[in-house]
Amino acid sequence: MKISATFLSSSNVPADLKKLNETDVDYIHVDVMDGKFVPNKTMPFREMKNIYKYTDKRLDVHLMVDDPGKYIPLYAELNTEYITFHVEIMEHIEECLELIKSYGIKCGLALKPSTPVKSLVPYLPLLDLILVMSVEPGKGGQPFITSSSQKIDEVRALLDSYHSKAVINVDGGINNETKDECQKCDILTSGSYIINSESFQQRIDSLR
Ligand code: DX5
Ligand code: ZN
Repeated sequence: MKISATFLSSSNVPADLKKLNETDVDYIHVDVMDGKFVPNKTMPFREMKNIYKYTDKRLDVHLMVDDPGKYIPLYAELNTEYITFHVEIMEHIEECLELIKSYGIKCGLALKPSTPVKSLVPYLPLLDLILVMSVEPGKGGQPFITSSSQKIDEVRALLDSYHSKAVINVDGGINNETKDECQKCDILTSGSYIINSESFQQRIDSLR
């Protein structure tokens, strides 16, 4: 199982990024919030781009924003493996997926807990990743919504039926217990479980 670590709940981002860089974590999950798609707002790109000073891990960017087209060119400048935005934005989805691909970066679509899996169907041929949100997007430290397990199974069945090679990433409330609900995923994204601990590596090991 691959692990992506988010620093959204960190109180000292540079220090925690440096500590994560010393682990074998696969990706740094970069949560971006615009205060519109979700009520909270994360730091502006001019500050976020400093991530490169503290880590050389590949980035898994999660855009919780109304207008991904504005953010894609910025995050494409960084050491980015995936850029994911939400299918609920409804407009310009295909255009934004193509924009991500034009930078040679893998693209993903995220689903809020209440969004049906079938909403992915029109975009499946373009997708490299599906991000299943197992909490309402907007903040770290929330409990895993148990029905997410069934949703992951549904996404896996959909991908198989379309012979899609897209990977499944699950995000929200992931810890050493809830990970058992996510066996059919390829990537587990975890924030507070890793960050609020003495040994980041031990927590990462417990998720694999
Ligand atoms: C929620 C974010 C998640 C979240 C994960 O809006 O997308 O990445 O912060 O943090 P934990 O693991 O604390 O739920
Ligand atoms: Zn996220």
